Amino acid sequence: MLLIKGGTVVTAEQSHRADVLCDDAGHIARVAPDIEAPAGCEVTDATGLLVMPGGIDPHTHMEMPFMGTVASDDFYTGTAAGLAGGTTTIIDFVIPEQGGSLLDAWKEWRVKAEKAAGDYSFHVAVTHWDDKVHADMETLVRDCGVNSFKHFMAYKNALMVDDETFMHSMRRAAGLGALSTVHAENGDAVYYLQRALTEAGQTGPDAHPRSRPATVEGEAAQRAIGLASLLDAPLYIVHVSTEEATRAIAEARLRGQTVYGEVLPQHLVIDESVYLDKDWLNAARHVMSPPFRERHHQKALWGGLTSGQLQTTATDHCCFCREQKENGRQDFTKIPNGTPGIEDRMSVLWHYGVRTGKLTPENFVAITSANTARIFNIHPRKGTVTEGADADLVLWDPDATRTVSARTHHQNVDYNIYEGLELTGLARKTISQGRIVWDDGDLRATRGAGRYIERPAFPKPLRAPVV
Ligand code: URP
Ligand code: ZN
Ligand code: ZN
Ligand code: ZN
Repeated sequence: MLLIKGGTVVTAEQSHRADVLCDDAGHIARVAPDIEAPAGCEVTDATGLLVMPGGIDPHTHMEMPFMGTVASDDFYTGTAAGLAGGTTTIIDFVIPEQGGSLLDAWKEWRVKAEKAAGDYSFHVAVTHWDDKVHADMETLVRDCGVNSFKHFMAYKNALMVDDETFMHSMRRAAGLGALSTVHAENGDAVYYLQRALTEAGQTGPDAHPRSRPATVEGEAAQRAIGLASLLDAPLYIVHVSTEEATRAIAEARLRGQTVYGEVLPQHLVIDESVYLDKDWLNAARHVMSPPFRERHHQKALWGGLTSGQLQTTATDHCCFCREQKENGRQDFTKIPNGTPGIEDRMSVLWHYGVRTGKLTPENFVAITSANTARIFNIHPRKGTVTEGADADLVLWDPDATRTVSARTHHQNVDYNIYEGLELTGLARKTISQGRIVWDDGDLRATRGAGRYIERPAFPKPLRAPVV
């Protein structure tokens, strides 16, 4: 048993002074003022700290095979780094091979993820359409705890789906009580622009954002929303990075459509100037899709979060080390796309969101865990501090400062995109399944301690939660 004494419990709804007792089965047993420690119970002092639900990162790519290589953080190192930053659950992606079985891929990812130190769940990507996919989707929802499917409108000749496949899949998902998620960039337009740029001799990382301008994302977001409306299917748009996509989501919500938007902290604080770095490697390390944008987009993303038009934050954690980024030295289209971030998500959002007054602590809980738990149907097991919930908690110090560096981070990657930033707000202790797994610099992650989290389907016809 673990008793957390003297802290302020913060949920998406309220903050109040309470102690939290965790039982040996990894649940929250009681939340009340002045709980007396049962015999033999470990007591941890949370005076001056906020006791919040552990972060949920709904978009990571641990050991993902991508662009001829494999992301360097695996399920153990990546989830352990998450624990160090206050994130206790991830939702990663099963990506079937082209034409391959969804069910076989899900089984393969289950084995890969057995080493995880924190809890994990999976979205499953649909990358083609046939009868087997149609059948596998039902099995995944009914028997495997999958309630969300992913679609890539980008990455032509690799993961990209055309609109027909996307529509088949969205309709099927909605019929099964599952949510469709989408990477919204027009893959044909990106392909065209990439070729035009390379033919014109523009082969460096500075060509990357020009091959994926804001219009390419805005168009795809509009189209995805339009297709979803034809099918009356709810839609979740990952890594929204533009004002155009934010507006498209807000307008759809005003029309009564169920559309959710996810934001990455890196898009909130890093802008496109990184691609002009004279050091090729530094620029290449920022190559991800969608790319970093002009500053005015950041204002729209913050506005989306504070107004509730964008509901969740994720990292799209997808790490590639120097030698992997070097694959694109001669051709920017071959630089593996992805940036790290799971360890710093919570701190970046606290520092730039709560410290600046844009977000309240309760908003912070909403966008780092509670909304995600609701949208992906694991609330109140996750995303809140209440009796019976999983004892996944972070004891947050709102005033402590740290300097981010790849020299001290726990992510298995040789750089940190926030290198040198001084961030105020950090996880003093992280608790997973009732155990302290991060204690003020001491990472006590256990290989294999993470559990696969089944996410039940929504009732049919699909009524996705209002968030
Ligand atoms: O650049 C990125 N985002 N890499 C990971 C794959 C994806 O698009 O999410
Ligand atoms: Zn219990
Ligand atoms: Zn993506
Ligand atoms: Zn991604």
